[in-house]
Amino acid sequence: MTPTPSPASPTTSEADEQVLRPHAEQAFADELAALAAVDERPRPPRWHLSPWAVTTYLLGGTLDDGTVITPKYVGRRRLMEVAVASLATDRALLLLGVPGTAKTWVSEHLAAAISGDSTLLVQGTAGTPEESLRYGWNYARLLAEGPSRAALVPSPVMRAMESGSVARIEELTRIPADVQDALISLLSEKTMPVPELDTEAQARPGFNVIATANNRDKGVNDLSSALQRRFTTVVLPLPDSLEEEVEIVRSRVASLSSSLALPEDVAPLAEVARVVQVFRELRSGSTDDQRTALKSPSATLSTAEAISVVVNGATLSAHFGDGRVNAEDVAASLVGAVVKDPVADRVVWQEYLETVVRDRHEWADLYRACRDLG
Ligand SMILES: Nc1ncnc2c1ncn2[C@@H]1O[C@H](COP(=O)(O)OP(=O)(O)O)[C@@H](O)[C@H]1O
Ligand SMILES: [Mg+2]
Repeated sequence: MTPTPSPASPTTSEADEQVLRPHAEQAFADELAALAAVDERPRPPRWHLSPWAVTTYLLGGTLDDGTVITPKYVGRRRLMEVAVASLATDRALLLLGVPGTAKTWVSEHLAAAISGDSTLLVQGTAGTPEESLRYGWNYARLLAEGPSRAALVPSPVMRAMESGSVARIEELTRIPADVQDALISLLSEKTMPVPELDTEAQARPGFNVIATANNRDKGVNDLSSALQRRFTTVVLPLPDSLEEEVEIVRSRVASLSSSLALPEDVAPLAEVARVVQVFRELRSGSTDDQRTALKSPSATLSTAEAISVVVNGATLSAHFGDGRVNAEDVAASLVGAVVKDPVADRVVWQEYLETVVRDRHEWADLYRACRDLG
């Protein structure tokens, strides 16, 4: 058996300091500081960076002083420009798309670059109450002291208004329609009345909202037209080309592997490309060369899932294999990602395996590994 290279592990004191997942403004503090240092363009009130610098932070680039800004979003520049420009006006931003198209990811990085704080976050669910968008009360204080500002517990949105920052609302269309309506007056009047204290919170310049919504949830709690009018909608597409998608997966796997202390070269490009190709072929319902029509499984097979298939493979390989991802390492999570419905998806997968994978000679290892899973 080949010896397993031992992944570098951080010293104990370093590990004590670390958090599992730093916020974007922490993880990319160096890049944000370098951008702020060279950024001489006009900044909207309270923005930490100019719109140009925010876009550069998202799409990557090399600064005049040689600092390399890593790309966070891979895709069309125009989409990010429209998103940033909208936030610089008083229109809120709605990022719409199928699952795994980087809506949450882009919204976090936008908030980090614009306000230096991506944590003013409301997670939308069917049970999100109005207090999550407005304010609640600390009941112990309320009972002891009566209503007072000290007893009021502001929502992330209210805190963003008061500090002139960007608030994030995840999965807006899962929030019940009557709760969503609380946003209408807030976005148009830019004030939040607090009748209990006979006062109001007025938004400071710099305040805005980034919401995300999944278009698979269409019809759940569609945005009212009144609310829609207050948002600029930017649809984030699935990656256009195989190359683009491979690049997204490769770069995310590299950074996730390093935070998991896996060896640097654990995921060879060829293996990443193969996983992405399987995903794209099943998703689009035809092989890369357009010769064979395929059935698509029920799962979305998003880029995000391709990333997690490769990361799972990398982890298996680093700990139980030879430290380089191979077909055996990805097979189990690949099949797991495709087969979500044990009956219908299994048929789709078997057909793909027997008609496409088997016929590709250079994929013999993958065919065997998937067959062996039974
Ligand atoms: N076009 C893209 N550019 C960069 N990363 C992407 C892209 N598409 C997907 N990803 C990656 O997919 C992962 C999941 O994205 P996420 O924001 O959670 O998806 P969503 O909120 O749209 O469901 C993130 O790690 C992100 O890096
Ligand atoms: Mg999301």
